[in-house]
Amino acid sequence: MTTPIASPAPKKFAVVGNPVAHSKSPFIHAAFSAQTGIALTYERICAPLDAFEATVEAFFAEGGSGLNITVPFKERAWAMAGNGLSERARLAGAVNTLWQENGQLKACNTDGVGLLTDLRRLGADPEDRRVLLIGAGGAAKGVTLPLLQAGCSHLHIINRTAERAQQLREALTIHQPDAARRLSAGPLDELNGHWDVVINATSSSIDDQAPAIPGLSFAPDALAYDMFYAPQATAFMRFARAAGAARVADGLGMLTGQAAVSFQIWNGVMPDIDPVLTALRQQIANG
Ligand code: ATR
Repeated sequence: MTTPIASPAPKKFAVVGNPVAHSKSPFIHAAFSAQTGIALTYERICAPLDAFEATVEAFFAEGGSGLNITVPFKERAWAMAGNGLSERARLAGAVNTLWQENGQLKACNTDGVGLLTDLRRLGADPEDRRVLLIGAGGAAKGVTLPLLQAGCSHLHIINRTAERAQQLREALTIHQPDAARRLSAGPLDELNGHWDVVINATSSSIDDQAPAIPGLSFAPDALAYDMFYAPQATAFMRFARAAGAARVADGLGMLTGQAAVSFQIWNGVMPDIDPVLTALRQQIANG
């Protein structure tokens, strides 16, 4: 008689935020698990605002394998990671992925790679393209370096508060002096030329508003991309279409892409995004 081999206990993952009930991450990671055959559990943890750090420490002390971090804790997770930050995470000032190696906390920001993965999926690789990034908050910070590293010919950052765009440009220039000639920043209302890829990284879509950008001009076949997503076209997508964008997209693919990169960091396997994105869009459409 052979003794049955016990299958290993599923690895434990979670997303930490406050609030966190809206998070799609458990759905996405369950779908990745089914697709790859990697057994895991993935839960939502609503951390008290004054106990985020203790929540993270307890999760790993109890054998957790990896955490995603969402609003409002991405900067505090960055501060916790210290020497364990990846290069992109250090510059982004915020992280969404935590894990441990030899007992040391490691952290990465997968938003930028998630965005690039989605732009390529949509046939809008930023390489040699003129890219306009709207916004200079946390969402914008996470994607600037990956966009530059992807080889865009020019990256122009505009923001309602123009000084924040300038500060972001300066921080990037210190980090990547070679990129200075491809990088500029300014207010929303002083634009020249046509843009191939226009990315909305402001939070205005949450209020169903589009940033006011007089003078926005799209190149032929340009893509307007909203990092935000909703069951219907977002305010920015509607604005961009009316302003002449040939193609528009919301950020659901980026959400799935950043989750896929987290999954790869934790499990060493890159899942296929497309079927999961289709299922997620269906789930959102069904409410
Ligand atoms: P997040 O982490 O989501 O990026 P944030 O750091 O508060 O949040 O940044 C919000 C971004 O959206 C900022 O760039 C903000 O512009 P300001 O720096 O001028 O505040 C931008 N934003 C929010 N609402 C906007 C609106 N109605 N029009 C234009 N920009 C807006």
